[in-house]
Amino acid sequence: MEWVKIFPDLKTASERLTENRPQLLMAHGKRICLVKRENHFYAVSDACSHHGESLSKGLVNFAGDVVCPWHGYQFNLKNGREFQERSADLVTFRIREEADGLYIGF
Ligand code: FES
Repeated sequence: MEWVKIFPDLKTASERLTENRPQLLMAHGKRICLVKRENHFYAVSDACSHHGESLSKGLVNFAGDVVCPWHGYQFNLKNGREFQERSADLVTFRIREEADGLYIGF
């Protein structure tokens, strides 16, 4: 697995990301939906597996699922599964939190 540093330290990552607000990240030529939630970071593919809408334009609901802004499908941030399995699982990416930065794995 190749690890790509996306923030120089955890403090910067925490400051730049708003809790439960998805943010688009471009890394390794891919569009990633990045979420900070309860002091952890999650990364899934940005394209909704239903019809491709950008999930980083959506929101995170009370259950911690990212909600697509187009038709409201809801995806688990840990395993990418849509909660009613109406569409394919999202690709998920591992995040590594280290003292010297936040890394995403490809
Ligand atoms: S495009 Fe995301 S739910 Fe339809």
